[in-house]
Amino acid sequence: MKFDKTVNTFLTLLSVLMILITAFFVERLITHNNVSSVYTSKLSLTGAKLSDDLYAKVSKTMVQKTDNGSLTQYEIEIVNSGDTDITNWNLKMAYFPTVKVIDVYNVEGAPEGDSYIFTPLYNNMTIKAGESCEFGMSIDASADYAPTSMVLTGFKLDPTGSTLGNKLISALFVLWIVFCASYMVVKYNSISFLKKQKNDIRIILQSMNTFISFIDAKDPYTRGHSRRVAMYAAEISKRMHLTESEIQNVYYAGLLHDAGKISVPDAILNKPGKLTNEERQLVQNHTVAGGNMLKQLSSLKGVRETALYHHERFDGKGYPEGLKGSEIPLYARIVGVADSYDAMSSNRVYRRHLSKDEIIEEMQKGSGSQFDPEIVPYMVDMINDGYVNVVKMETAEDESGDDKLHISEEDIPGLYMGL
Ligand SMILES: [Fe+2]
Repeated sequence: MKFDKTVNTFLTLLSVLMILITAFFVERLITHNNVSSVYTSKLSLTGAKLSDDLYAKVSKTMVQKTDNGSLTQYEIEIVNSGDTDITNWNLKMAYFPTVKVIDVYNVEGAPEGDSYIFTPLYNNMTIKAGESCEFGMSIDASADYAPTSMVLTGFKLDPTGSTLGNKLISALFVLWIVFCASYMVVKYNSISFLKKQKNDIRIILQSMNTFISFIDAKDPYTRGHSRRVAMYAAEISKRMHLTESEIQNVYYAGLLHDAGKISVPDAILNKPGKLTNEERQLVQNHTVAGGNMLKQLSSLKGVRETALYHHERFDGKGYPEGLKGSEIPLYARIVGVADSYDAMSSNRVYRRHLSKDEIIEEMQKGSGSQFDPEIVPYMVDMINDGYVNVVKMETAEDESGDDKLHISEEDIPGLYMGL
C-alpha cells in the first residue's frame, strides 16, 4: 500500500521532470533552429583565409590623430564561404587597458577581462552559408596597436537535419514513450494487485464474520463484542501511530481474540450466578484454546498471541502464563484495554454496564496494574472525545431490528482500499 503510494509519487515527479526537459529542448529547437555543434574559428584581419569556412575582410575607413595615439575606424566583413549556416555567434578581440573602443555599429560590444566581445544586432544572429555580414568599430589606441585577429564562436547548423538538438529530442521522445509504456505497465500491475488485495481482504473478513457469528451465537450478551473490541483496538493503534499494516493486524487480532470461547460450554458462558473454580478454569482456558486454534493463522501477525495473552495483566497477575509488562505482546496489551472497556460498557448477564465516569475511574485505577499505562490514556481520550459512542451506534441494532454486526472494510482505520 505504502509502496504503491511511493511508486505513484515517484512516477508523477518523473513525468513532471520529463515534461520540463522535453519543453526545454523543444524551446531550444524552436528559438535556435537546428542548433548543432559549437563552432570556433580564428579570423585573420588581413584578409587571409584561416579556415575553410570563414574569413574576414578588414578595411580602415578613417584615421585621426588623438592624445592617445590615433582614432581608427574599421569596417569588417565576415564572409561565410562554407556550406553551413553559423548562428548565435560572437567575436572576441584581444583588448588592452590602453585601447578604447569608442564606437561600434551593427554589433554590440562589451569588455570582458582582457577581451572585447562583439555580438550581432541583426540577421537573427546568423551568417548564412555563402553570405557575409558587416560591422564597424572605432578604436582609440596608440599608433602601434592594430587588431590582428579575432576569434568567432557560434553554432554550426547541420543542413542534413541530423543535429545534436534533433538527436537529443529524438532520444527524449523514445525515452518518453518507454517511460509512458513502463508507467502503464506499473499502473496496471498496481491496480491488479490492489484488486486482488481487496478481494483477499473481503475473503478474510467474510471468513471472520462467519466464525465470529459462531462465537456470538454462544453468548447473546456479548453480541458485537468482537467487532467493537477490534474497532477500539484499531483506533488505539492508529492514535499510537502504528503502521497501516500493524493497525490492520491489530484489528484482526481484536476480532479473533475470543475465538477460544467456542470451546467453553454455553451453560457456563451464560451462567447468571457465581462460577465454581472448575468453571472459572474452563472460561479462562479460552485463551489457551484460542491460541491453539489460531496456530494455523500465522499469516496474520500477532493474532494467535493476542488470543493467548489478552487476559495477561501488566503487573504479571494475569493468565494463562503470568507475563509481565513488555513481555506481553503489544497487540495483546492493546486488545486487553479495548476488551475491558467493552466489558465495562456492556450489560452482562450478571450486571448492568458502568457509567462513563466509572469506566474512566476503573481504567485509571487499573493503569500500571491491569493495563499498560501507556495505552490507557488513548482509551480514555476515545471515551472523552466520543469515539466509543460512534462505534456503539454503528454496531447497534437498526430500526428494522437487524443488527449491524457485519464487519466491513471501513471498520479498519489502517486499511487502504483505494484503486
Ligand atoms: Fe477474552
